This record gives sequence, C-alpha cells and structure tokens, in this order.
Amino acid sequence: MAGAQSEVGADRDRKAEHLDLARDEAVQEKRRYFADYRLEHRAMPEIDLASVEPGVEFLGRDLSAPLLISCMTGGTGEALRINRDLARAAEETGVALGLGSQRKALEDPAQEASFQVRELAPSVPLLANLGAVQLNYGYGVDECRAAVEMVDADALVFHLNPLQEAIQPEGDTDFGTLLPKMADVTEQLDVPVIVKEIGCGISAREGRALADAGIGIVDAAGHGGTSWARIEARRASDVPLGEVFGDWGIPTPAAIEGLAGVDGLTVIGSGGLRTGVDMAKAIAIGADLTAMAKPFLEAAGEGPGRVVEAIERRIRELKIAMFCTGSRTIQELAEARLWRSRGR
Ligand code: FNR
Repeated sequence: MAGAQSEVGADRDRKAEHLDLARDEAVQEKRRYFADYRLEHRAMPEIDLASVEPGVEFLGRDLSAPLLISCMTGGTGEALRINRDLARAAEETGVALGLGSQRKALEDPAQEASFQVRELAPSVPLLANLGAVQLNYGYGVDECRAAVEMVDADALVFHLNPLQEAIQPEGDTDFGTLLPKMADVTEQLDVPVIVKEIGCGISAREGRALADAGIGIVDAAGHGGTSWARIEARRASDVPLGEVFGDWGIPTPAAIEGLAGVDGLTVIGSGGLRTGVDMAKAIAIGADLTAMAKPFLEAAGEGPGRVVEAIERRIRELKIAMFCTGSRTIQELAEARLWRSRGR
C-alpha cells in the first residue's frame, strides 16, 4: 500500500514536471517548417469574407472549424483546472477536445474526476487517450473500453511515443507487435480508434499499415513543435541527449503529405502548428483536421476565457487565409495552390 501511495505521488510529480517543462520555450523546436510553404495569394478572391465557412464534421459532430485541442493532461492538481478550462472553451467555440493519458486514472479512481468533463462539453467530440505501449504491459480491450466509458468519449486515441519512453528513466520500452493488438482493440470497441504520435510523426508506410489494420484516423503529430525528447532529457538531467534527439522525427508537413496519400485515411495535421495560417497550410497539404497542444496549454488554467480567445484568434486567422485564397469552404481550401517557398 505504501508502495502504491508513493507511486501515485511520483506520478503526480511527473505530471507537474511535464506541465512545467512543456511551458518552457527551450523544449520547443525553433524551426518553423510551415514557413517553408506559401499559399497562393489571390488578389481577386472573387468571394465575400462574410461567406467563408470553415465548419467541418468530425466523429458525427459539427465543428466550427477543423480544430482539435490535442491530448494533454489529467490527474491531480493543476490538470483538473486545465481540463475544465479546455472543455468549457471547446464547447463555447465548437472545437474538438482530446484528454491526456488515462492510464493512472484507470489504476487510481481518485484521478477520474479530472478527466470527466463531458458535462462541460456536451456537444463536441471528446477523445479518450491511452499509450498504445500499455497493450504490452497488461492492458487489453477491457481497459480501453473503461477509458472510453470513464469520459463518455467519441473515440479512443492511442498515442505512440517510442522516443519519449526510450529517454524517460522509467519508460515502458517494449514496442513489439503493437499493430495487431491495436487492430484487435479497434475491432472490438464501439467507438473509432485514432492513432497519433506525440511529436515525431507517423510515416506514410506506417499510415498504410494502420489503415490496413482497420484504423481510419491518424494524427501525424510530427516534428516541429513540442519536443518530448527535450522534456524527458531534462527530467533525466541529460540535456545533451535531448539536444541530439530534439532534432529527431518526420517534419509535420512531410508527415501530413505522406499520410494524405493513404487511401481512406482521415488525417489530422499536428506538431508545431501555431497559427491559423499554419492550419490553412496543413489543410492545403492534405490534412482533414488540425490540432495544437502548446498554444492551448499556455492559455489554460485561469478560466476558459483565455483559451476561448486563443481558439477564436486561430479561427479568425484561418478565415482570413481562406478568404485570401478564394476558399469559401475547407473543401475548397484543400484545393488551394501551395508551394515550397524556401529560398525563393
Ligand atoms: C502532451 N501530449 C500528449 N499526447 C498524448 O497523446 N497523450 C498525452 O497524455 C499527452 N500529454 C501531453 C502533455 C503536455 C503538457 C503536452 C504539451 C503535450 C502531446 C500532444 O498531444 C502533441 O502531440 C504534442 O505536444 C505536439 O503538439 P504541439 O504541442 O507542438 O502543438
């Protein structure tokens, strides 16, 4: 029992450390891959800005824009306030919300409340979250179903994070034969399964393997934003290891482009998106939906107001980008001309 208590305590510390370190600019990738891309400006958009409508459908629900607040947190302390702010803001603005890993809440029911935000966000897609690697550490379909039911989720997100686990001192590093296990869960769950990385990207080859395994939604979560290598290396007091692997991964635009070529896959573009223009570029590259974590983490914790502002700002930027490319809808934006502009 004493052991279990201290493990819960250690998890609380780890979560708090993750939140603190994730806010530190030093763990953010400096390169802005999306700056290498340019959408074709239309001096004659031939539409009225007032007619621009960025709404999309996701998981059977209507969104005001193709935006998801990426999976981040849950648990004790600050995480509770953060999730409540994110949920209220998601509901007010009509965007989707992902929750952080629910593993510890499955083991410690006292942590469940911080994930249970459905009442605050009744009309938007809400995503449950577990590390896929847990399927090699005793988790099966029952735990996955419990995670979905705990939060009344519209889908279950499996995150893939081999680099983070490899650098984390207490990491779970057996990533053997996860694909058939994820396929099995996908077949047995009543809600769709989404697979994401956490900042190193998913390749076209792996996207195809996931699609073949019955997984219809993949989030690129590529390189270019929050670096979990840098965060975990700081926790392990080995900053140089974080710098070596801070550069690791598939740049987000390349990951989106690769996944967009996989038949039948719904692609979420994330990893380093920071503005509505980044969202517009991600859509034009091939994403169906976009997601961001860090910008909303920064805004959360002091009431939903700042999160609402942060979301509305990105939607306004997206709408202006749509207007200036002559795109009335997200379908039209997907057809907008875009080129790599580096050095031109
Ligand atoms: C994350 N991320 C994350 N992802 C996941 O699937 N489960 C999780 O529990 C967490 N936890 C988490 C905590 C915090 C504080 C942050 C900032 C992020 C990863 C997140 O969903 C996203 O993939 C990456 O952060 C990359 O996106 P940004 O931050 O570059 O927009």
